Amino acid sequence: MRILFVCLGNICRSPAAEGVLRHVLRQRGLDGEIEVDSAGTGSWHVGERADPRMREAASRRGYDLTSRGRQVTPDDLDAFDLIVAMDRDNLDGVRRLGSGSADVKLLSDYLDDSYPDEVPDPYYGGDRGFETVLDMLEAAMEEILAENGF
Ligand code: 4NP
Repeated sequence: MRILFVCLGNICRSPAAEGVLRHVLRQRGLDGEIEVDSAGTGSWHVGERADPRMREAASRRGYDLTSRGRQVTPDDLDAFDLIVAMDRDNLDGVRRLGSGSADVKLLSDYLDDSYPDEVPDPYYGGDRGFETVLDMLEAAMEEILAENGF
């Protein structure tokens, strides 16, 4: 199975999603079963490492964010089985690229109503925003794996 996480810049939310899922897969001995990647709908941060604030918050929870920014492409819609967007703008951005075999979902589809209905963009906010992102990602990963039979 191949899963792609998508946000706007590919330097905060989706690299964190990628890092959290990679970590969970390694812990469960599932790293050979699922390929994980992330991308942004925007191109400003192509080639960059994740935002230092996101890397720092992730590192405190044991996640190592190593990805480099890239922009989502129409080919991704067939290259991945599941594309998970962090908010509705990102979801629309992916859908505007066309359609393919991938199932396109919102991260909050995997969360109950006690969570916000989109993963808030932490880029211009305070440090607490990065913790909220990680809380949501950790909770959603369990459900993503369960729904896909892992
Ligand atoms: P992300 O956060 O979509 O979670 O990576 C952002 C990163 C950069 C920008 C916006 C959001 N930006 O405008 O540069």
